[in-house]
Amino acid sequence: MKRFMPIKKFIPQSANPVKDIKNTLHKNLEFTALEQYKLIRANLDFTLPENEKCPVIGVTSSIRGEGKSTTAVNLAYVFAEKGSRVLLIDGDLRIPSIAKKLQIHSAPGLTDLLRGKGKESFDFQSYLLDNWFVLPSGDIPPNPSELLGSSRMENVLKQLKEVFDYIIVDLPPVNIVSDAVSISGLISGMIVVIREDYTEKKELERCFRQLKLSNVNVLGCVMNEAKSGKATYGKYRKSRNYKYYRSYESHEKDSE
Ligand SMILES: Nc1ncnc2c1ncn2[C@@H]1O[C@H](COP(=O)(O)OP(=O)(O)O)[C@@H](O)[C@H]1O
Ligand SMILES: [Mg+2]
Repeated sequence: MKRFMPIKKFIPQSANPVKDIKNTLHKNLEFTALEQYKLIRANLDFTLPENEKCPVIGVTSSIRGEGKSTTAVNLAYVFAEKGSRVLLIDGDLRIPSIAKKLQIHSAPGLTDLLRGKGKESFDFQSYLLDNWFVLPSGDIPPNPSELLGSSRMENVLKQLKEVFDYIIVDLPPVNIVSDAVSISGLISGMIVVIREDYTEKKELERCFRQLKLSNVNVLGCVMNEAKSGKATYGKYRKSRNYKYYRSYESHEKDSE
């Protein structure tokens, strides 16, 4: 296997990545929030297919603003904190936000790799920790959905899986565009983010109906900004235990 040695490193513009005003991102997370993300990490390790060399985890939700990108950044951070080699990919090729959140350049990035630019697939990575790399979106393409599900994407992921332990892909919402569904066949599974007091039940039902129809492997749900119970931040539940998912199942039975 090739030694892990990125050729060109793009260092964040600021040595101290963005100080989110709400303290929602990695280094600035409150202790309890960080602990919740670590719990999600632990649960994911149980849920992910055993013996998979480099799981690729997609992060999606039903609509915009539920906290997909925030969750993707923080999950990547806690996996990297444990010492794993982690790559966070901005797969939201319509409204990319990872570069902005982490104060790195948004291009070159994934779309350049998909166009076959860059001799080595890891030419374009930024790094935040020694073992945490970020592949921003690159320039916005006209056909994100086709690109994400393409054989080019499959090849790019295949190469990247050789050099990382985990890959996390931030994706657009399921109810708005088909991008998340189109990449689903190329990844290990999907995490669905739900924001408390924000996501409407009917949107969530629509989202799960779509994911089920497309045979997407849902690894679990993350309850973002959860206010109930002891924890005040992200919570992770395996989808079969999640109340909305249950009601989705009963809805399916009712309609049979
Ligand atoms: N748990 C949270 N607490 C407070 N603000 C949050 C939380 N999660 C996300 N946000 C804020 O909500 C906005 C949308 O989050 P983002 O992760 O960009 O959503 P999405 O990627 O689903 O569109 C951002 O301004 C983000 O900082
Ligand atoms: Mg986003």
